[in-house]
Amino acid sequence: MAEIGVRVGVAGDFEDVSELFGAAMMFDPSPNELGRQLFEPERALVATDGGEVVGTTRALTRDLSVPGGVVAAAHVTGVGVKATHRRRGVMSALITRQLREVPEAIAVLWASEPGIYGRFGYGAATWGTAYEVDLHRVGPPSVRIRPGELGELTADDALKELPPLLRSLQERRPGVSGRSELQWQRRLEDKKDDRHGKTARRILVHRDETGAIDGYALWRGKLNWGATGPASEVSLQELVALEPTAYKALWQHVLTLDLAATLEFEYAAVDEPLQQLVTTPTALNRRVNESLWLRVTDVARALEQRRYAVPVDLVLDVTDDLIPANAGRFQLTADGTTARCERTDDPADLTLSVTELGAIYLGGRTLAEFAATGRVTEHTPGAVATVTSAFTWPIAPVSIEVF
Ligand SMILES: CC(C)(COP(=O)(O)OP(=O)(O)OC[C@H]1O[C@@H](n2cnc3c(N)ncnc32)[C@H](O)[C@@H]1OP(=O)(O)O)[C@@H](O)C(=O)NCCC(=O)NCCS
Repeated sequence: MAEIGVRVGVAGDFEDVSELFGAAMMFDPSPNELGRQLFEPERALVATDGGEVVGTTRALTRDLSVPGGVVAAAHVTGVGVKATHRRRGVMSALITRQLREVPEAIAVLWASEPGIYGRFGYGAATWGTAYEVDLHRVGPPSVRIRPGELGELTADDALKELPPLLRSLQERRPGVSGRSELQWQRRLEDKKDDRHGKTARRILVHRDETGAIDGYALWRGKLNWGATGPASEVSLQELVALEPTAYKALWQHVLTLDLAATLEFEYAAVDEPLQQLVTTPTALNRRVNESLWLRVTDVARALEQRRYAVPVDLVLDVTDDLIPANAGRFQLTADGTTARCERTDDPADLTLSVTELGAIYLGGRTLAEFAATGRVTEHTPGAVATVTSAFTWPIAPVSIEVF
């Protein structure tokens, strides 16, 4: 590593960073003006070898819903190392520095492979559910749609109409990333290169009896014919519904499109209500995988930023190999509405590493799960049960987009 340096990015790095990440992930990048505007050079780190860019990591300034609130979270993305420079510690140098420098109390990312980020103290905090729905078997929700209830929007209108719905979803579910106007533009961008043989994106909306939009779905279709007839594919990208009527109508619509045989959706929650509404849930063909990984970068601030399901008052002994300021004992005292977390010299009720703290932070996993494999040491009987009850949340977290 002696010859490889790491520096903060500058605006002129945009092309090199895009090129390098595309090559590392095996896609041809098509950097455009929107991508350039979304690039935050001062939040990028660049590894160079004799002036050549050989590794990058970036952070996006976004917020994230957590139990009881919406907080700033560094959204880490674009992690890549040139194939000729792999396994020489370049990523480790980039990620370690990034974690020590981000101003937010938590960092989140989607991992290309689950083996990469645990060593840096990230915990898999959210399970995502992917569907590959057999539309001929599933038995969609049976609802009567009144005229005018469903319609479509142009991307320009969607940019104005949809942001409040995402903010409402953030108030209801942890794990949801907020979007600035530029990030909404990126979400609704519809470049031909991104379609992979599918149609242009459709923006379906549901309106309540007053005409207000209370749900939307983003989807594409792909014409296909099988040996026995039409076998088209529906690719659902995002479905947000604020009310049960909207939820049922939107799902019924996308599950009953003419000619379609399958529907793919990668971003369902583990407690997705759809499973109650179809007659054959097994035909959803569910697969559960890690989605959002979370790293606590400032223990006291992070634990004060969320709310707890039941009162808690105990001392956590946290270990952290990368961020020394996180290691040590913290008194966490919380009731339903307030939370305090500060350093203490009192004896610990339990010992855990920052990785477990990240995994349970959004309420999607329990400390009891980690105690069962010996990753948590309980010094006071009942401490694991108390933390498990306090950190869980009535609704599972979900991350609805890869960023
Ligand atoms: C993943 C990637 C960034 C790793 O970069 P790197 O510079 O080779 O990583 P390092 O040399 O710092 O590796 C540190 C450790 O992580 C391990 N590791 C690296 N990549 C890994 C992977 N894909 N899966 C599992 N472990 C991995 C290394 O073996 C090493 O372990 P060790 O310390 O026990 O030897 C790089 O290989 C890459 O760009 N891959 C393709 C793009 C990608 O997947 N990016 C991540 C997007 S989320």
